[in-house]
Amino acid sequence: MTTHLRWGVLSTSKFFSTKVLPAFTGCEVARLEAIASRNPEKARLLGIERVFDSYEALLADPSIDAVYIPLPNHLHVEWAMKAARAGKHVLCEKPLSMTVAEAEQLMAVQRETGVQIGEAFMVATHPQWLLARQWVRDGKIGALRAIQGFFSYTNVDPKNIRNKADFGGGALMDIGCYPIFTSRFVAEKEPQRVLGLIERDATFGTDRLTTAVLDFEGCQATFTCSTQLFPCQTMHFYGTTGHIEIEIPFNAPPDKPCRIFLNGEAAETPVLDQYTVEFDEFSRAVLEGRTVAVPVETAVGNMRVIEGVFRSAVEGGWVTL
Ligand SMILES: NC(=O)c1ccc[n+]([C@@H]2O[C@H](COP(=O)([O-])OP(=O)(O)OC[C@H]3O[C@@H](n4cnc5c(N)ncnc54)[C@H](OP(=O)(O)O)[C@@H]3O)[C@@H](O)[C@H]2O)c1
Repeated sequence: MTTHLRWGVLSTSKFFSTKVLPAFTGCEVARLEAIASRNPEKARLLGIERVFDSYEALLADPSIDAVYIPLPNHLHVEWAMKAARAGKHVLCEKPLSMTVAEAEQLMAVQRETGVQIGEAFMVATHPQWLLARQWVRDGKIGALRAIQGFFSYTNVDPKNIRNKADFGGGALMDIGCYPIFTSRFVAEKEPQRVLGLIERDATFGTDRLTTAVLDFEGCQATFTCSTQLFPCQTMHFYGTTGHIEIEIPFNAPPDKPCRIFLNGEAAETPVLDQYTVEFDEFSRAVLEGRTVAVPVETAVGNMRVIEGVFRSAVEGGWVTL
């Protein structure tokens, strides 16, 4: 029986090189064996066993089982489709696509090829989020009625993919996707309508300050995200009899426990690297024939909310999903 999954990565992305590559060393069943880059010299410096000078060449290698895609957002679906058609399982970075229609096309390819395709929301396998969801399931805060989120950083580098509108840059796509995903994850339902307010950067054309309201019918979620504000992140879940706060909801540190508060009292998670857990969990799901943590259907749901918020900001009113 196969005991591990053999991974290849498309690109020397900064996020991959600095966060995911070190996380692979702790993996038990995910094994990183190859990298492809437009710049193989740069890729060689990363110390990965095999280096390909094109993404196509890596996809053609029969010894690779699964492909990780940390490309700019506008290339996600194109390469996820190519990887799936080459028979590879795919873990693609968030947001999975630029539009709902594109994500649905990928869903069709997933069904046609039978490979597993997942969106790389590491929050879905982090113990602090599993605990928050369990507390809500167990009625620890009564009925969940309100969710408030915030996620911001400052990045005004015109060369960064986050500041390129045609690359799928902007706050909502880059980080607003997290409060949307975690609200849906903990509430375990889909919002019926959304409202969005967006301020765009005059030069980049990307949304640099976005606020949204998600109506989950009986539970209201609000969040603000920004690419040009002091870095902060927080998520709060308010119920009829209690409150949950996730102290570091998204950039959970690999070297210390995370704290999650129930009515002000802290619970701590073990020290772990959330990307190690993410790749091992995806690999185990594939090896054991289970559905991955964030399948493409779930990713379509997130894109539906993102698209709704963009539309609402233009139309100036509620958008029914
Ligand atoms: N899950 C998380 O916690 C997390 C955190 C950060 C970022 N991300 C996601 O990871 C993805 C990559 O983000 P990043 O910040 O690492 O981006 P990045 O440093 O700009 O890397 C993107 C890579 O894509 C390749 N590429 C191919 N065509 C390109 C093109 N036309 N323009 C630019 N690059 C191109 C390049 O690699 P080669 O030259 O080597 O081929 C480049 O290094 C995004 O989807 C982002 O949302 C996720």
